[in-house]
Amino acid sequence: MLNITINPSDKRTIISRNIFGHFSEHLGRCIYGGIYVGDNSEIPNINGYRKDVVDALKAIKIPVLRWPGGCFADEYHWKDGIGDKASRKKMINTHWGGVVEDNSFGTHEFMNLCEILECEPYIAGNLGSGTVQELSEWIEYMTFDGVSPMAELRRKNGREKPWKLKFLGIGNESWGCGGNMRPEYYADLYRRYQTYCRDYSGNHLFKVACGPNADDYNWTEKLLDNVKPWHTKAISLHYYTIPTGDWGKKGSATEFSDEEYYSTIKNTKYMEELITRHSAIMDKYDKNHEIGLIVDEWGIWCDVEEGTNPGFLYQQNSMRDAVLAAINFDIFGRHSDRVIMANIAQAVNVLQSVLLTEGDKTIKTPTYHVFDMYMGHRDATLLGSFAENTEAGGTAALSHTASVAEDGSITLTLSNCALDKSLDVAVSLCGKDARSVSARVLTAEPHAHNTFERPDEVKPCEFSDISIADGKITAKIPPCSVVSAKILL
Ligand code: AHR
Repeated sequence: MLNITINPSDKRTIISRNIFGHFSEHLGRCIYGGIYVGDNSEIPNINGYRKDVVDALKAIKIPVLRWPGGCFADEYHWKDGIGDKASRKKMINTHWGGVVEDNSFGTHEFMNLCEILECEPYIAGNLGSGTVQELSEWIEYMTFDGVSPMAELRRKNGREKPWKLKFLGIGNESWGCGGNMRPEYYADLYRRYQTYCRDYSGNHLFKVACGPNADDYNWTEKLLDNVKPWHTKAISLHYYTIPTGDWGKKGSATEFSDEEYYSTIKNTKYMEELITRHSAIMDKYDKNHEIGLIVDEWGIWCDVEEGTNPGFLYQQNSMRDAVLAAINFDIFGRHSDRVIMANIAQAVNVLQSVLLTEGDKTIKTPTYHVFDMYMGHRDATLLGSFAENTEAGGTAALSHTASVAEDGSITLTLSNCALDKSLDVAVSLCGKDARSVSARVLTAEPHAHNTFERPDEVKPCEFSDISIADGKITAKIPPCSVVSAKILL
């Protein structure tokens, strides 16, 4: 029996809803075919947005959506994507498959989509190949309500009132595809670009500087030595789980050995070390926690599915990925004093997607269901807790998060990454009695995944192996599973 102790009086930081954020990029079939099909499509759509995708994203209440990239962002020139669609520039998507980008999905299409989804837009601005003027005018175009050239242009293009834009990233992976810069050089450029990104008409920008690639601690040091809280509200961090740990042969999304399954779990848990060490550097430069950490790209990155365009990064999504998502959410939650947002890569049809589409069909992946099952943690307060653990495949089997919502209900999420054993757990609440508990479970063998023929192969169901006796909760957590429980005291 593994004892888990939750202290309902030990209220820690708020787990921001934005930790459950998403990312959409002009990459493969994420935007075109995945989110946007155009209003002439036979596929049911609302102004060109796929209805099934919009409905599914609304159902998990996506809080924030990042766009237009990724690497694509630093080659994106926003004026190519406004005005009459027929006259929009057709260009090559140099990063992703060399396909034609017809710019039919641009600023209006993205900002209107966020309004429909009722989520915050998070724009990734072009610092790599764009100009200060271009970025500054983009902000003016989107947010200025008065008389100005960009506000007039927006009106001419059919949008009278400005949109609200909070999150603005300035440069993406400026250490790599965003310009191969040194941190000192980027920091200077960042300071310059952000100066001209103004707050117009009651809009308040939350500016995000490009942070490190995985374990590039030097980048964080040099960046924060030069970029201060009055320049930025957050820095980003990118880290992907590579199943084998080898970028040359990453591993398949659905065919893997037990050994590779466990190496995937261990590589995922490296996120904890990365956040801890980058946070320690942040603590040195930003003692008052005025700068947040945004993990605006994370997820499992596998070899592409056979027969698909290698530049499209299309991969299936298995029960293994659901466990991996739960582990990442637990890590983000534990570090919610610094981690204020995270964006899984990418929402639809690319890497660890929550939705996959094929023609007019859409399926929810196991990862989608984890987003749903973690709903109770959104904007809830992390509770102090401790769990005994046991080993599986060279790593700890159990991962968990406990939080309390404003209405006093406690959400406890538990995942068991062990392939061959269930875990008996006993949850105590520091002298308080649990009055009721209800729970859902997502479990399957690790390779199990949903297909267009069998869309519900992996889906959550009511969890009955959980009960209360004398105010204490006991449960049997199945192998390779994620459990979400709501506890009332
Ligand atoms: O998510 C795919 C790519 O990974 C993004 O475009 C880039 O930012 C990262 O390297």
